[in-house]
Amino acid sequence: QLPVEELIASLSVDVPDFPVPGVVFRDLTPVFADAGAFRRVVDALTAPADLDPRAAALSGSDGGPGFDVVAGVEARGFLLAAAVALDAGTGVVPVRKAGKLPREVVSASYDLEYGTATLELHTDSIRPGQRVLVVDDVLATGGTLEAAVALVERLGGVVTSVAVVVELVALGGRQRVAPHPVHALWRT
Ligand code: PRP
Ligand code: HPA
Repeated sequence: QLPVEELIASLSVDVPDFPVPGVVFRDLTPVFADAGAFRRVVDALTAPADLDPRAAALSGSDGGPGFDVVAGVEARGFLLAAAVALDAGTGVVPVRKAGKLPREVVSASYDLEYGTATLELHTDSIRPGQRVLVVDDVLATGGTLEAAVALVERLGGVVTSVAVVVELVALGGRQRVAPHPVHALWRT
């Protein structure tokens, strides 16, 4: 059985000059489309090995997944977060782009290559002290996950792990999410 990072690397497709000239876009859609690879990826994101040691201490020895809810980041993070939550037996909450959630929200803005974007979370979607696994597909500059983590923490959630399929190491996103460690299945 291939290590999960080799499986992801073998199925992902590099697309030059997308979405703008000079960027090589790593397209993960073939990874998610492959039943076996999707299963391996979801299992690896769910595994207790993902846990931040500080969170492991909090999670005790109940044999559970070490988190109470999964937060997935729009849009590609949704594909993963729902599957992970179902696997782990938890619920899932959406971290959405601005203007999509209908009730009271907390908002956080973050920098994009050009301009800024805003993420939102329903204020009642995380209860204080709840342990939260934050999931997305790609860690690039880290702005997206930095904002998602900030929203969870503003509601009193305890981020027990930040998990992604791919980390684009050269972009340094890990530093922006620190002190939370990022569990990346494939670092490239
Ligand atoms: C992509 C990706 C991550 C984010 C990573 O999402 O799915 O969420 O960018 O970039 P960063 O680390 O530099 O913030 P995008 O904003 O393109 O949205 P989408 O999932 O709706 O396509
Ligand atoms: N691939 C997929 N998603 C991304 C990338 C990429 O290279 N960069 C930012 N989000």
